[in-house]
Amino acid sequence: SNQIRKFPEGFLWGGAIAANQVEGAWNVDGKGLSTADVAIFKKGVSKADYKKHNKVDEEQIQKAMSTETAEDYPKRRGIDFYHRYPEDMAVFKEMGLKTLRVSIAWTRIFPNGDEEQPNEAGLAFYDRLFDEMHKNGIEPIVTLSHYEMPLYLVNQYGGWSNRIVVDLFVKFSKVVFTRYKDKVKYWLTFNEIDSIVRHPFTSGGIVPERFENVEQTVYQALHHQFIASALAVKYCHELVPGSKIGCMLTKLMTYPHSCNPKDVLKASKNNQFNHFFTDVQVRGEYPRFINRLFKEKGIQIEKQVGDDELLKAHTADFISFSYYMSLVASENSEGMEKVSGNTIGGVKNPYLETNEWGWQIDPIGLRISLNELYDRYQVPLFIVENGMGAYDKIEEDGSIQDDYRISYHEQHLEQMLEAIEDGVKLVGYTSWGIIDLISYSSSEMEKRYGFIYVDQDNDGNGTLERKPKKSFYWYKEVIENNGLLA
Ligand code: BG6
Repeated sequence: SNQIRKFPEGFLWGGAIAANQVEGAWNVDGKGLSTADVAIFKKGVSKADYKKHNKVDEEQIQKAMSTETAEDYPKRRGIDFYHRYPEDMAVFKEMGLKTLRVSIAWTRIFPNGDEEQPNEAGLAFYDRLFDEMHKNGIEPIVTLSHYEMPLYLVNQYGGWSNRIVVDLFVKFSKVVFTRYKDKVKYWLTFNEIDSIVRHPFTSGGIVPERFENVEQTVYQALHHQFIASALAVKYCHELVPGSKIGCMLTKLMTYPHSCNPKDVLKASKNNQFNHFFTDVQVRGEYPRFINRLFKEKGIQIEKQVGDDELLKAHTADFISFSYYMSLVASENSEGMEKVSGNTIGGVKNPYLETNEWGWQIDPIGLRISLNELYDRYQVPLFIVENGMGAYDKIEEDGSIQDDYRISYHEQHLEQMLEAIEDGVKLVGYTSWGIIDLISYSSSEMEKRYGFIYVDQDNDGNGTLERKPKKSFYWYKEVIENNGLLA
């Protein structure tokens, strides 16, 4: 007789992963080196020190290029999804997943990024993967670019700072649209397109030491990604019948530390800046407020004839975003307690708890974010990442009692229901790291997000065996009920 609070019919329940964090097989079947293959697990760096973890310098790149093993490079081994995906798909099916968000590694298709012809062995892998998904009733959602551009393009062309990379990316996109047009209907362009301002190497292939004016370079590269994204939208619509293609934003919501108008202004500006990216990708033009910031920073975007028209003509069909935490801004934060978050930091919010990495857990912030995004854009919203990184403990009986994770997700789902009642059009939810994987920022394995445990430690020891956690059964029930027990 328990009441169920239902989600809309057809709600897309799923999980999310990214090629570079799960596949491994970094040098198999002709794959080229990507920026993710350069990332090392920096032992001894504090968990909260996201800036140090993120930083990639010349020395690290040179060393990675001459290193032939996966030792110290966790993303080279991932969780061996490249070979174990059939087994994983069976477990996802058992959980009842309707959809799975994956990404295609560009370096499997074009190992260097600028070859004439695509690598057939790489294309064949994703055929097998998508077939396996459909066999299990799981609809793929595919990100074209998730933190893994070819390293060759970084060294040869300066990454996304070079307009040539737009053409190379569009070529890659057309190849995969054409190849998978009957298997994949939902696409995303750039994962967290805003993240290039926080980590230029991972998101833009920009090695800061190689440029005189890094900020200028980053915004120029971003412009190239906006153009590439618009072109991907265009070709997706042309080549994949019945497709929908979305943009993808890191939703970073900021509260003012106090009602001091100066704090409120600062928070408001941060939020406006977070919307800059979706303004371009959904409204199809650079918002007026960004001109002031560009002016103050002396940034000049070089546009080609026709760029503005392209942006306007090929806007995203929906907004997808990640949401993990919220932030607090203060006009004068000197002496205030600081916390870290998803590759960004801020002032501590006394009303919120944090996870072990300092990320402030804020389900209500998700409701606010959903409302703000929908009010501003009136396009369907899709939460394609949400989850909680934590250390998990295996009990003596072998079980993993991750009640903290269940509670995190449950509270976020409750706020999603509220937002839906507020009138927001929310079409789906793919929890991040449905299965334990290598963390983006710190390349740790032991920062776990999964409902499924993977036996591997930070150094790569372990059997890689998969095991459902308590949260697995909880999520299965949510999907079965299409809702939460009230
Ligand atoms: C998002 C990324 O920013 O956050 C994912 O799209 C990433 O790739 C996730 O894994 C969680 O961050 P982290 O650093 O804890 O793995």
